[in-house]
Amino acid sequence: MNNKLEEVKAVLKKYGQEHLLNGYDRLDEKKKKELLDQIMNIDFELVHSLYLTTKQEEKHQEDEITPIDYLDKYQLKDEYKYYENIGKKAIKEGKLAAVTMAGGQGTRLGHSGPKGTYDIGLNSHKSLFELLADALKEEGSKYGVTIPWFIMTSRENNKQTQEFFEKNKCFGYQKDKNLFFFIQGELPMMDTEGKLLIGEDGLVKLAADGHGGIYESLVKNKMTEQMRHLGIEWVFIGGVDNCLVKMVDPVLMGIAIDKQVTVACKSVVKANPKEKVGVFCKRNGKPNVIEYSEITDQMAEATDDKGELLYGESHILCNLFSINAIERMGATPLPYHVAYKKAKYLDKEGNLVEPTSPNAYKFEAFLFDAFGKVDDMAILRVKREEEFAPVKNSDDVGVDCPKTARNLYQKFYHLD
Ligand code: UTP
Repeated sequence: MNNKLEEVKAVLKKYGQEHLLNGYDRLDEKKKKELLDQIMNIDFELVHSLYLTTKQEEKHQEDEITPIDYLDKYQLKDEYKYYENIGKKAIKEGKLAAVTMAGGQGTRLGHSGPKGTYDIGLNSHKSLFELLADALKEEGSKYGVTIPWFIMTSRENNKQTQEFFEKNKCFGYQKDKNLFFFIQGELPMMDTEGKLLIGEDGLVKLAADGHGGIYESLVKNKMTEQMRHLGIEWVFIGGVDNCLVKMVDPVLMGIAIDKQVTVACKSVVKANPKEKVGVFCKRNGKPNVIEYSEITDQMAEATDDKGELLYGESHILCNLFSINAIERMGATPLPYHVAYKKAKYLDKEGNLVEPTSPNAYKFEAFLFDAFGKVDDMAILRVKREEEFAPVKNSDDVGVDCPKTARNLYQKFYHLD
């Protein structure tokens, strides 16, 4: 241990992070070992470069943004059936799996457990996980298959998530047969001086690395290998917080197969040009999403000759990938975006500090930053009221909250 301690001290000195051992003597032997192992596994070069990014504005001004083509599901006419038949065949052949990203912290919602365990207030009091499970089972049964379900958790919520599933008999799914859990990657959090924080447990404070971590996590946790073993070719990846998410869509699949693209995404048309959503575009000729904070008013309001917004296709985290595309996207790192958040930590004396305003940087990759790694993808516009009922905020915010999601869900399923 002493050798290891000396080794760790040398690394920390090199990177100016010696404070991480301030509370070392207060830890028990097990925790001491854990802390040293944890520090040895940190990529301090990456940490340093992340810190440098906090000092720079995210620069995209030089990017060339152009509109991207899309298909409207309800304007497809004869092609609708054509694509649907192709997709149906592939689903019946067991080629589709679903991935639910459930590793987020859900800070805006303010629910104390994992977001998927949240009850949006339906008469059935079903959790988001159960609503998703119901839809997936129902869709699978239409094609005589059980769609394998992969759930991405975080280190923070993995135990609670799995216990919740077990308590609910996995909603009829079978763990390690057609239900798989995997934990997403993490990155250290740091203060404004670039010093890493020590969390309540005495270890370096880590936070989930964003939904863009999905590709690398699927590969590293051998989930893509498992999928291949099950004969899967296509993977729908969606969030846990859209209670109308349609994970099984033969039309979307048929389009991907027929057009030989490796990624097919769903969009809903922007509610109005000022809506705070990211929209699909081409960035320097490659598929991408432009964030609402990045788009100019002029671009947001620009229309084509039919009066449709040129940048009107909102990204709703409903995307279908071939396994090859996932592997390609997971092979090289995505850029990290900085968020300034409130984070509890232990000070020099080992006292817990609970900040009332943001104090720490958190780093997240965004799933859509990987879209540029493929040459082409298909975008399918679907109806908002049929497929998009997000649960992001608490009810007092009034939008994208349990109340709005519940209303949309009840309307879609004709519930009281
Ligand atoms: P959001 O970006 O809306 O974040 O996630 P969130 O964690 O749910 O909520 P806030 O921002 O803290 O309030 C969209 C989807 O991506 C998943 C979330 O669980 C949600 O399904 N996600 C997000 C992850 O799985 N991991 C992450 O690191 C971030």
